Amino acid sequence: MTNHSPNTGSETETTASEAKAANTMWGGRFASGPAEAMERINPSIDFDRRFWREDILGSKAHAEMLVAQGILTAADGAAISKGLDEIWGEIESGTFTFSRALEDIHLNVENRLREKIGDAAGRLHTGRSRNDQVATDMKLWARGATDALDAELKALQKALIDQAEANVATIMPGFTHLQVAQPITFGHHLLAYAEMMGRDRSRLADCRKRLNESPLGAAALAGTPYPIDRDRTAASLGFDRPAANSLDAVSDRDFAMELAAAAGICAVHLSRLAEELVIWTSQQFRFVKLSDAFTTGSSIMPQKKNADAAELVRGKTGRVLGAFTALTVVMKGLPMAYGKDMQEDKEPLFDAVDTLGLCIQATTGMIADLESNPEAMRSAVERGFPTATDLADWLVSALGMPFRDAHHVTGRIVKLAEERGCGLADLDLDDMKAVHQGIDRRVYDVLSVEASVRARTSYGGTAPDRVAEQVAAARARFLTP
Ligand code: ARG
Repeated sequence: MTNHSPNTGSETETTASEAKAANTMWGGRFASGPAEAMERINPSIDFDRRFWREDILGSKAHAEMLVAQGILTAADGAAISKGLDEIWGEIESGTFTFSRALEDIHLNVENRLREKIGDAAGRLHTGRSRNDQVATDMKLWARGATDALDAELKALQKALIDQAEANVATIMPGFTHLQVAQPITFGHHLLAYAEMMGRDRSRLADCRKRLNESPLGAAALAGTPYPIDRDRTAASLGFDRPAANSLDAVSDRDFAMELAAAAGICAVHLSRLAEELVIWTSQQFRFVKLSDAFTTGSSIMPQKKNADAAELVRGKTGRVLGAFTALTVVMKGLPMAYGKDMQEDKEPLFDAVDTLGLCIQATTGMIADLESNPEAMRSAVERGFPTATDLADWLVSALGMPFRDAHHVTGRIVKLAEERGCGLADLDLDDMKAVHQGIDRRVYDVLSVEASVRARTSYGGTAPDRVAEQVAAARARFLTP
């Protein structure tokens, strides 16, 4: 199923004359046609045509079941199925004419079917309603969207893990409060994002599992007197089971809210990474270089190479989070069961999924292409006394000093280095002894950033040996099918 594919079919006609005066689909008790503003507010065809495939597949499954249950003759079933296949071809090839007067994808398809096969088309809607139909279509679409996003996130994880492997021993400053804290490895830093994407994927998988119940056959809200087989249509559409309550089946949009929420959290993760890329590519940091493929120049300042893709990923996060807000506000306060408000579920969800998909792809490209600058990272790490914690730990372990005292002594030594304008490892032993008599030559073993990083061997720690193990583990956890 192609969720990211653009709409197919020709442009939408503003009116379909035969359907305008009194709607042939439901106009039995209507004397006049809709007002001009109604014609504009009512239709969803401009956006719900996007799930025409899901709509046709749902109709075919429903028709096949009606025949199996003896509700529809085999001849009518065959005509419906053939007609729907032809409509598929028309939409795919762009010759289908969508009509706003026919409101939505469901009525557009059914109307075309009537043009093709006559009265038998009218029997397709037996035992179902647009309410269960639209919920079914949306769920099928959302299911495909979770699969597509999962594949895109997996590709991003691969790019992160590959870069991590190349930078297992590349030392950079680790920050807290954006102040140099302790030396870490760049590979370790990148793997942190692979973990975040892993949780994003598991949220999508969870959402997919919960949404995979079929609304089809719930009809308008109460079920139907026809002897339909909801297990059969559920199975043929790949659902795990039919939704148990017909009211819930047509009024549930949890799946849309959940998918938008999962997309929003993922977008926040991408935005944090994007922010780091913006910082790292700045002249003040120069930790990484992005490729020409993901940067832009300035029309006035020739020296500039801007991280526009990263800034846009950061900026588009607002849209994805906005979609979640829009969806939840639409649903808030809706009484059972269906309300036309729910037609407003589509555009935010489509936008959230499209936007997130694009952001993931752009991020994957930036990460796959980026070049780290170990020298710039190295000189940045030297500037911030990043081994002060190692010195304090050494005072504890080698001299038996209580940690609080060690913290104080270290603070005085840092102050000294600051006054001298040098790093901790550049201080004379005598200078350190002047602060605390017990310090001896062994202290230099812990003052280098390499020693500091190498020592952090606890599980999940930044030592290159540990990071190399984590690279292999991440490949096994995230990239093997
Ligand atoms: N276009 C509608 C939607 O997207 C389809 C369901 C219409 N149902 C109804 N009872 N008017 O929600």
